[in-house]
Amino acid sequence: MSNEGVNKARRRFLTGATCVVGAAGVVGAAVPFVGSWSPSARAKAAGAPVRIDIGKIEPGQMITEEWRGQPVYVVRRTPAAIALLDKDTARLRDPQSAESKQPDYVDPGNRAIKAEYLIMVGLCTHLGCAPMYRPEVGAADLGGDSWLGGFFCPCHGSKFDLAGRVYKSVPAPTNLTVPPHSYESDNVVIIGVDKETAA
Ligand code: FES
Repeated sequence: MSNEGVNKARRRFLTGATCVVGAAGVVGAAVPFVGSWSPSARAKAAGAPVRIDIGKIEPGQMITEEWRGQPVYVVRRTPAAIALLDKDTARLRDPQSAESKQPDYVDPGNRAIKAEYLIMVGLCTHLGCAPMYRPEVGAADLGGDSWLGGFFCPCHGSKFDLAGRVYKSVPAPTNLTVPPHSYESDNVVIIGVDKETAA
């Protein structure tokens, strides 16, 4: 065989080999893609922990993220708002969160690991509406001087303070729920992972 004949035969072989590798590569790529749509993978993704960058939240601002199909509120409380949490606890139904859902590593009063950042599931404990963030102290439509800032549920009028603690004489039976969470760093919080759930 001439040199040219050898080169042609080699090119044919390489072309064929490339096609085989290419097909194998497609199959190899397709398997994890198909796998990603399996019900168990979807369920895992739906329950996966959520990382939240809290470093850009302004004092007084609230952001909402999603975890396990539920809204999670993150509020950066101002020093003034934190000071007001102790002002009128007699009007709260469960000021020390004895009957409310929250991990035992959060403070029972301000309901946070770091007082500055309140992290809660944004679903009313009455029938599950999303309470509105109403931080304005003295809001006329929420009781004027008696309103110290907090959350108002528009469905049936439940009111919560700026720790998500429910006021007396409203339909919601307990405080808003604090989800399991932990700090990965000063500015990153992970919802769904804490020292009890970490592997
Ligand atoms: S759902 Fe919030 S008060 Fe009824």
